[in-house]
Amino acid sequence: MSTPWAGRSVLITGGLGFIGSTLAHRLVGLGARVTLVDSLVPEYGGHPFNIAGIEDRVRVNISDVRDPHSMRYLVGGQDVLFNLAGQTSHLDSMEDPATDLEINCRAQLSILEACRRHNPAITVVFASTRQIYGRPQYLPVDEKHLLRPVDVNGINKFAGEAYHLVYHDVYGIRASSLRLTNTIGPRMRVKDARQTFLGVWVRLLLEGRPFEVWDGDQRRDLTYVDDAVEALLLAAGSQAADGRFFNLGGREVVTLRALAETLVEVNGGGTFTVREFPGERKRIDIGDYYADWTLIRDTLGWEPAVPLREALKRTLDYYREHLPRYL
Ligand SMILES: NC(=O)c1ccc[n+]([C@@H]2O[C@H](COP(=O)([O-])OP(=O)(O)OC[C@H]3O[C@@H](n4cnc5c(N)ncnc54)[C@H](O)[C@@H]3O)[C@@H](O)[C@H]2O)c1
Repeated sequence: MSTPWAGRSVLITGGLGFIGSTLAHRLVGLGARVTLVDSLVPEYGGHPFNIAGIEDRVRVNISDVRDPHSMRYLVGGQDVLFNLAGQTSHLDSMEDPATDLEINCRAQLSILEACRRHNPAITVVFASTRQIYGRPQYLPVDEKHLLRPVDVNGINKFAGEAYHLVYHDVYGIRASSLRLTNTIGPRMRVKDARQTFLGVWVRLLLEGRPFEVWDGDQRRDLTYVDDAVEALLLAAGSQAADGRFFNLGGREVVTLRALAETLVEVNGGGTFTVREFPGERKRIDIGDYYADWTLIRDTLGWEPAVPLREALKRTLDYYREHLPRYL
């Protein structure tokens, strides 16, 4: 197979999770030799079914990125590392800050140490988050915006990103970072709202139950998972990304209320209620957010391709078929 990825060795941390597994499907299709590392902690988004259809064409290693011995072995001989393993819940990061620190910060440093010592020629792409900006001071948020995280998760993800950039600047490791916004699509966690509020909306909607919209006036942009995967591939494939960080985003900016209405419409029915934020959530809410993604467009040629309605449709179609597996 003649694609730039054919025969290349690729390691994906968090590879059984939502974005990591979608990336794995794509890379297998492109002919890459793919290894997935995942700890499958039940509270996180990893699920064995996420690799249904490619399970015989990837290597799966159930281990924890906090284990430096596993990581030393796993990074050896890899051409590219997509570093996606992470604790994603903002609320959990406040209730158990030490675990968030261990995974999103400390483990990132030890992964990079494994690269520096055992495979310095590797290319690394890190999945960062818009959460590191905190409450926007202006919109759309570009990469020059102040970083003032509102929760522990945002602080540790920022540290994780910063380590990648330092290992590029100081040791010459080809590393870059993508600051993802709300990413949606098949294989996202729908059991609860740990990964994204939209997950639990989809679940309740398909179960015929009303879902809750908190506040409702906040504006957001969303990225369809295939578009996020495309950005990850572009970042790994271009030297123009080395040592850089880029926002991802979406074409459409919507209030959460409008998003809920569209979801119900695309589903062909359903109900939701709008209520006040619960106190513990309000304290770490960022208000309106949407990204300026012109830097990655101009540098790597990335643009979101899948319209919001289509993204919602594909997500609902997937869970209409597979919901029980994810509960
Ligand atoms: N989904 C989004 O909207 C979004 C937004 C911003 C950033 N991100 C980032 O993208 C990355 C992927 O997120 P996702 O949405 O696919 O979430 P996910 O929870 O589905 O995937 C993360 C995966 O990492 C695994 N993992 C967690 N800790 C681990 C550890 N210590 N060792 C090994 N594996 C571990 C989990 O089991 C899970 O499969 C994360 O780093 C996240 O912070 C996601």
